[in-house]
Amino acid sequence: MARCLSLAVALVALVGYAAATGNIEDQQPTSYTQLAPVKGQWDITLKATKTADKAAFEPVDCAEPKISAACNKPLLTADAKDKLQVTAALKGKTLKTIDDLTPKRVVIKACYSKPSATDRPWRKSNDVIDKDKSCPFVIKSTELNVSSTSYSIDWPIPKNMTKAAWYATVLVLCENGTLNSYCQFDNTVNKTYFGTNIINSTPTSMIIATAVCASIGPLFLASYFIKDFMGRKKQ
Ligand SMILES: *[C@@H]1O[C@H](CO)[C@@H](O)[C@H](O)[C@H]1NC(C)=O
Ligand SMILES: *[C@@H]1O[C@H](CO)[C@@H](O)[C@H](O)[C@H]1NC(C)=O
Ligand SMILES: *[C@@H]1O[C@H](CO)[C@@H](O)[C@H](O)[C@H]1NC(C)=O
Ligand SMILES: *[C@@H]1O[C@H](CO)[C@@H](O)[C@H](O)[C@H]1NC(C)=O
Repeated sequence: MARCLSLAVALVALVGYAAATGNIEDQQPTSYTQLAPVKGQWDITLKATKTADKAAFEPVDCAEPKISAACNKPLLTADAKDKLQVTAALKGKTLKTIDDLTPKRVVIKACYSKPSATDRPWRKSNDVIDKDKSCPFVIKSTELNVSSTSYSIDWPIPKNMTKAAWYATVLVLCENGTLNSYCQFDNTVNKTYFGTNIINSTPTSMIIATAVCASIGPLFLASYFIKDFMGRKKQ
């Protein structure tokens, strides 16, 4: 069963990888390193409903990426009352992008802190933004508003967010000819982290793998049984 599980997880991950890379052709494979020269233009502020009054947002002010850190407490849960408020405000009047591309979209994501991604390949970060698995949650994705320099959203913590410490990332998308590409980014790494504690979350690949193994389990058993039986006959 254990061997079947790891094999099935690898297979499911492979299929997922093929599906994920399938739509890269209409997107430039931009990397964070490539965008470093235009980093540092957003002030990203996090607030959360951390008190009994779930209408009140308290500033999140924790620079510690470990979930066990005191400043990450209380951990947010997915009870529909716990919310994160993310505000991304441009420091300047205009946004400078790489290659002076024209900005089109702003995407705000939640990303696993480094300690929360350790030893979990399905949360692994990658310098190529499209391959980065450390930022799976899209908090907001919106057209860039030319008459506004600030984006804010109140985001209920979703049930599939797991127990982890997180930081926020702002990504800007531009059109580069006929292709879309990332053209600017900022994040709260080493500045602001928030912690969540959502029990009972298994990665989708593990759920599928368990189902696959459970259904082919009897087949394995039967084949062992037949092998064993045939082997004995020959002796
Ligand atoms: C979490 O669940 C929501 C709603 O079911 C889904 O849209 C989203 O893709 C899920 N995200 C992840 C990272 O699993
Ligand atoms: C764009 O920003 C302006 C100024 O903040 C706001 O009044 C307007 O509703 C925004 N437009 C959209 C589509 O969000
Ligand atoms: C824009 O497109 C050009 C030509 O394909 C490419 O060389 C460049 O790296 C792209 N810029 C970004 C930021 O993706
Ligand atoms: C965050 O802090 C770690 C440890 O001090 C350091 O190695 C890393 O380069 C920092 N990252 C950023 C983006 O500043």
